[in-house]
Amino acid sequence: MSRPRRSPLALLLLLALAAPAVAQNAPGAHGPPLAVRPMAPTPPMGWNSWNKFGCQIDEALIRETADAMVAHGMKAAGYRYVNIDDCWMAKARDAAGNLQPDPVRFPHGIKALADYVHSKGLKLGIYSSAGTATCQNFPASLDHETADATTFAAWGVDYLKYDNCNNEKRPALARYRAMGLALRATNRPMVFSLCEWGENHPWHWGREVAGNLWRTTGDIEDKWPSVLKILDRQDSIARFAGPNGWNDPDMLEVGNGGMSDTEYRAHFSLWALLNAPLIAGNDLRSMSPATRAILTNRDVIAVDQDWGGRQGSRLKREGDLEVWSKPMKDGGRAVVLLSRGDGGQIGVTMQELGLPRRSGGYVARELWTHASEPVTAAAELHAGLSGHSVLMFLVEPAGARGGR
Ligand code: GLA
Repeated sequence: MSRPRRSPLALLLLLALAAPAVAQNAPGAHGPPLAVRPMAPTPPMGWNSWNKFGCQIDEALIRETADAMVAHGMKAAGYRYVNIDDCWMAKARDAAGNLQPDPVRFPHGIKALADYVHSKGLKLGIYSSAGTATCQNFPASLDHETADATTFAAWGVDYLKYDNCNNEKRPALARYRAMGLALRATNRPMVFSLCEWGENHPWHWGREVAGNLWRTTGDIEDKWPSVLKILDRQDSIARFAGPNGWNDPDMLEVGNGGMSDTEYRAHFSLWALLNAPLIAGNDLRSMSPATRAILTNRDVIAVDQDWGGRQGSRLKREGDLEVWSKPMKDGGRAVVLLSRGDGGQIGVTMQELGLPRRSGGYVARELWTHASEPVTAAAELHAGLSGHSVLMFLVEPAGARGGR
């Protein structure tokens, strides 16, 4: 039976109807891919107001946070960005249609704040949404991209976190691309952080909208199950991360009170193994010595900042015990032994880590106790773990840096 022939006009109509559905999130939708902007050769490090303070923010908090970042050794450990999240805006744009800060909470404006943060050798980040309003219902940047990027650049902003609320169901790639283009047009280097919650798989298109990092999930909570839930979503997308384009498993909860210090050490170690942006989310002004020691552990931070060609990933799972590993650029391995549940014994061989047999063997240095132990090439790195904890090792050829 032959099919009925469609008229050329009907065919054209069909194509026109089908095209937007196919093209909306397709690579290069609405224009060619944008060039990668080299603002994040390593995962960005800094602080953001949301996890601890929500909407209770003002310019004093931001200034004091910058002071604390310097005073408590975080700047020295590599933290740079002081990022203001939602709720900084006035409820309405100004007469010229530009975003303006809340006049009561930010009376001296964002430019003065940026100048202050810059005077400390730090950088200022700001927040908007690729929607008609932010998640807390403040004015946002959809269809105002050029004006808002120009405003941010004029204020001296260095980083934009760009959320996804109130997006009117318009295609994500086009919304984020519009801001990527607008940021580029300012000629000011600004890290572009896509906060799209992983809904449209931004690891596939984040780079082509000039994104430097992209959230992979919904919001983190200050609870152990939330850390594990987010962790489990990172393994399958590890291959999309790399210099200037990072998977973002969300900001840190270290020090916010909902988990034990042991759990926070695990959270921080795992995020470092994932080459995650390390954006602290606690009150830096009043953190405990234990919180500070976690956030400024330079050995763990060095793993986060090292790009050995691959984000860390899960190597094996034995019930509630897991081994995660990440190649380091000098050929060694960062290894996290993780106890998701009550604890137990787990080990990993040098062979499983992909390390070649070598007569001198290896040295494993634990990055929280700083204790080193030799491991022969044929032996296993083995440890007992308590509940909800990690041990984190750097495994290197004996005799190399750190090898003893
Ligand atoms: C969303 C984001 C959060 C935070 C809030 C602010 O939920 O995912 O990280 O920015 O909005 O309202």
